[in-house]
Amino acid sequence: MSESLLEVEGLAGGYGASQVLFGVSFSVPARGTVAVLGRNGAGKTTLLRTLLGFLTPTAGTVRLRGRDVTGASPAAMVRDGVGYMPQERVVFPTLTVEENLRLGAAARPKGERASIDEAYALFPKLADRRRQRAGTMSGGERKMVGLARALLGRPELLVLDEPTEGVWHGVVDEILDALRAYADRAAILIVEQHLDLALELADTALVLQRGEIVMSGRPAQLRDDQRFLAYLTP
Ligand SMILES: Nc1ncnc2c1ncn2[C@@H]1O[C@H](COP(=O)(O)OP(=O)(O)OP(=O)(O)O)[C@@H](O)[C@H]1O
Ligand SMILES: [Mg+2]
Repeated sequence: MSESLLEVEGLAGGYGASQVLFGVSFSVPARGTVAVLGRNGAGKTTLLRTLLGFLTPTAGTVRLRGRDVTGASPAAMVRDGVGYMPQERVVFPTLTVEENLRLGAAARPKGERASIDEAYALFPKLADRRRQRAGTMSGGERKMVGLARALLGRPELLVLDEPTEGVWHGVVDEILDALRAYADRAAILIVEQHLDLALELADTALVLQRGEIVMSGRPAQLRDDQRFLAYLTP
């Protein structure tokens, strides 16, 4: 039995003739946070979308709890305990905040569903907005709704694509606390542009450059390596 929840091996893919990922390999243990870092256009979103089945890989394998799920649909991945918060289009814009949250909770079978009050406890600002259409909220507020929705699905693996992008710094601390608590009992795979925040959260960080992992390790190790900042500065 492998100890990893998710294992990605030699993953390649992209958009038609344009290859973006070149043999990406890494694993995510059942608890804790793995952060994916890299400049704009490095392929971070493409990596998440490929391992979640939105894009079809041209090579490589994705295993979940040791089972081959390469090419499985995103819906099948959700049923298998994987939650995803995309970088864009985080909410259903015509639904209210509360309806968006209910959809998150509905990722679990009846009887195992989280109460949406959990989301309001985590992000009290959302409680005042429960009847607002999500499409009329600011970008940062939508991210909060999207994250709360993803958490309510109580996935074993939570995949987040830039959850703090555009979010006011006062709320970023709430997000950090929520993710830290979640990573005690589940796995988080996060793409995060704010380096300090990513390194604070992560148990392991990967640096993606032009679709390849060029460095990986514990945050403290990476910080001490002079190549690290060089990879991440434009
Ligand atoms: N739908 C698409 N069709 C064609 N090319 C795409 C598409 N989406 C992304 N790309 C290209 O794939 C490469 C990687 O993009 P990706 O969105 O994965 O980068 P990223 O690391 O997530 O960047 P960012 O930090 O800006 O979110 C880029 O060169 C981008 O132009
Ligand atoms: Mg991206």
